[in-house]
Amino acid sequence: MSETFNIGLGNHDEQNLRKKADSDFVSFWDDQAKNLSWFSPWTSALDWKPPFAKWFIGGTINASFNALDVHQDSKADKPAIIWEGENGESRTVTYSDMFVKVQKFANVLKSLGVQKGDRVTIYLPMVPELPISMLACARIGAVHTVIFSGFSAASIRDRVNDSKSKIIITADGGYRRGKIVNLKETVDDAIAGIDSVEHVVVLERAKNKIHMSDKDKLWDELMSSASVLCDAEKLDSSHPLFILYTSGTTGKPKGVLHGTGGYLTHLHSTFKWAFDIQDSDVFFCTADIGWVTGHSYVVYAPLLHGATQVMYEGAPDFPDESRMWDILQKNKVTIFYTTPTALRMFMKFGDDIPNSFDLSSLRLLGSVGEPINPEVWKWYFMTIGKERCPIIDTWWQTETGGMLISPLPGLETIPLKPGSGTRPIPGVSLDVVDENGDTVPSDIKGYLVVNNPWPGMLLTLWGENEKYQKVYWSKYENRYYSGDYARRDDDGYIWLLGRADDVLKVAGHRIGTAELESCIVSHDNVAESAVCGIPDDVKGEVIIAFVVLRNGLKFDSDVLQKEITGKIRSDIGSIATPKQIYFVPRLPKTRSGKIMRRILKTIGTGDVIGDTSTLEDGAAVTDVKKVFDETQKSIRKKSA
Ligand code: WTA
Repeated sequence: MSETFNIGLGNHDEQNLRKKADSDFVSFWDDQAKNLSWFSPWTSALDWKPPFAKWFIGGTINASFNALDVHQDSKADKPAIIWEGENGESRTVTYSDMFVKVQKFANVLKSLGVQKGDRVTIYLPMVPELPISMLACARIGAVHTVIFSGFSAASIRDRVNDSKSKIIITADGGYRRGKIVNLKETVDDAIAGIDSVEHVVVLERAKNKIHMSDKDKLWDELMSSASVLCDAEKLDSSHPLFILYTSGTTGKPKGVLHGTGGYLTHLHSTFKWAFDIQDSDVFFCTADIGWVTGHSYVVYAPLLHGATQVMYEGAPDFPDESRMWDILQKNKVTIFYTTPTALRMFMKFGDDIPNSFDLSSLRLLGSVGEPINPEVWKWYFMTIGKERCPIIDTWWQTETGGMLISPLPGLETIPLKPGSGTRPIPGVSLDVVDENGDTVPSDIKGYLVVNNPWPGMLLTLWGENEKYQKVYWSKYENRYYSGDYARRDDDGYIWLLGRADDVLKVAGHRIGTAELESCIVSHDNVAESAVCGIPDDVKGEVIIAFVVLRNGLKFDSDVLQKEITGKIRSDIGSIATPKQIYFVPRLPKTRSGKIMRRILKTIGTGDVIGDTSTLEDGAAVTDVKKVFDETQKSIRKKSA
């Protein structure tokens, strides 16, 4: 029996939503969609031609209208974003400020030739102009594609080439741990030789020196001459709102494409149910907008509800380990949503730090992105929440658009179990199944699948309908394959057990092993490579790489390690940097030539190596183990 914690907010499912959802999930979501403002109503709630779902057919809507226009009568002066700069600056942007800026920037985009359906790449640090740019795109029906500002020039180039963006919005620089990162230079490198990019809009954030070409336009100059009024386009409910690239099991990131009406409905409902959002709340989600959590629960969900939120620009431990709690105390944050990686780091810093702040404004705590270890959950609950605040462990994915599993204190009270996200949200039916698609008995590990379409569901992968079908809908007929392992306990609670595919989660960021391996192999001296994730007590998982060099090569491993790491940084970004590279003579393979990553992982974690009888050459394991042990020994020596 696992421990349970009963924390209720006293809001119960008065309307019997669960019951309604169970009896007819389509009409349930039909009702939920009515919480938004539509220009014209839909004629049918769902058109499901597996694997393609369209929600609210015939309805017209606009995301920016629902985020801003609808609040202008009652909440014009309410802060939408309280922005905390890394260097201690702060700014408050009200709902009316946002409204004016978004309309103006929408006019700027139009003046640069952006039309409905065009893609716009956004590569900005965490500043209010990032959501402003996204909403301006949404306002005119342009499709935003935000790239996390830690990604490299090569990553931007691939994404821009794939989405065929005409415009890139960036900044001169962004602050990271007190240093200025020259974002404009990265964009210049990325688009050298790409003709499809017509303009680069540059926000002056850090005032660092940059090169401006004819294509480049300054944000402030464009805004100063832009007219103030821009009506929101009436868009089809399935009009694409954004593309967000995410790592999968192939060498190339996938462009996850989300629509408008279904996505917004999903966010509106889950934000209310999970966070119990009230007008007086101060919400703070620490996610970068470059990832899906930032799209859904920094930009769209809070704005749909007219909520006030804190947005932080920089690193959570800069200038010191108390920064997060300082921001919480200063802004009297009531709802805090962060990642297990951040929590493990805060926990390591010690209790004295949060204990020296007044965190009594908090009433609800959330976690997202990775499994949260029960001990971290309890620490969050006791030390940060002082046993008063429910913990909302939310499971979802870039592809799902919004939460699919979470406790819902805004709807119902359910005993919490540290480490479990409890149950699916109403209107979503999940199962844990075996290879054949049969439900596994309780407490047995299986694959997490979704039985029916849901409103926040991706439309497809940008330009790759077939791949979309293959990745998510081919393993089980008409059921969505999540790529995650899970188990269900006797009480029906779902426990997430990590990825079942070749996707790593490092500090909550998704990294595809195939993408990383193909980058390593593109180094001139490398013949073969295999990467895997090993447990880490802060980041959840860290990457180690095994590399086989081309024949007969003499090498200095320190130099090569630096070169390969440099290549990864410039091809992907520093988030994909392995903790250690092991140069091995060969890799363990099956008789059919498949690299046995399971064995490499076992070596990396120091566990007992099991059966190697299926291997083509068992001695490869001994060779790898030898290199591993020697490398570890020399690392220990160096650090002693
Ligand atoms: C993992 C992030 C356990 C999972 C929103 C999923 C989680 C992947 C949780 C998606 C959670 C997310 N507990 N694991 N609460 N939330 N994951 O696309 O493996 O960046 O498939 O979306 O993160 O990562 P993504």
